[in-house]
Amino acid sequence: MRNLIDIKDLSVKELEELIAVAEDIIANPAKYAEACRGKKLATLFFEPSTRTRLSFEAAMYELGGNVLSVSSANSSSAAKGESVADTAKTVSCYADIIAMRHPKEGAPLVASMNSSIPVINAGDGGHNHPTQTLADLLTIWREKGRFDDLTVGFCGDLKFGRTVHSLISALSRYTGIKIVLISPEELKLPSYIKKDVLGANSIEYKQTTDLLSVMPELDILYMTRVQRERFFNEEDYLRLKDSYILTPDKLKMAKPDLSILHPLPRVNEIAVAIDDDPRACYFKQVLNGKYMRMALILKLLEVNVK
Ligand code: NCD
Repeated sequence: MRNLIDIKDLSVKELEELIAVAEDIIANPAKYAEACRGKKLATLFFEPSTRTRLSFEAAMYELGGNVLSVSSANSSSAAKGESVADTAKTVSCYADIIAMRHPKEGAPLVASMNSSIPVINAGDGGHNHPTQTLADLLTIWREKGRFDDLTVGFCGDLKFGRTVHSLISALSRYTGIKIVLISPEELKLPSYIKKDVLGANSIEYKQTTDLLSVMPELDILYMTRVQRERFFNEEDYLRLKDSYILTPDKLKMAKPDLSILHPLPRVNEIAVAIDDDPRACYFKQVLNGKYMRMALILKLLEVNVK
């Protein structure tokens, strides 16, 4: 039985296969409409979510399956003090696969160790978010047609931004990748990722606080929200929240084929005026997330569609 806790749980070849399945779903949705008939997905979300939970649920419905949902910590026995391990054992009795989001780093891993059905990490604290990476990778693939030889800028909250951590980990397996880290001093990428991911894979990277100075180099700009819920005090959040606001003016020096990604939700980081720019990919990313989650559910449930 397989789980998806960390993006590296999938090999590069398996990622390619998931992308191929997602492309086939996009081209032939009817072929997949009954693939998960009789199967149940449990979405256990102990933190707020719009896209991730709904896209998992839409994915399961579009595969002909059903969904059981916990949409907040308050509405489940977690509020009574139940452990993640006991919740996982319980849900294993009802469902065929679990997607879990939790404020504690490592909670989905603990769930997978206590579950008899596959567990997908749908975001654990400030740590990882591998299925957002699946959405990001399909978007990069559809925009650029490659994962090699790309200069990718990550801008905003690189400290707490779990989507950034997982995407950097995924990209570190390709060749000719250059990473540009753009953040305030206080929100720099954690040093364990610089060492264990960038350093260990000899990925070329640089750090800056100045988005404009690096704009002309970028093939992809991955904007992120400052993660208010992970701050210890509100003052720091208020001071840092508007560090980077992407406006049409700032794109003047950008490549004409730049791709602008954002995992969403957006707060202030991207002016709404940019939404009509053909380089804005963040709403395509939302849709791509559903197709990749469909492909992932099929893989983990070992369903073959001919
Ligand atoms: C992200 C997350 O939850 O980490 N959202 C998402 O799943 N698309 C990013 C964020 O909340 O800023």
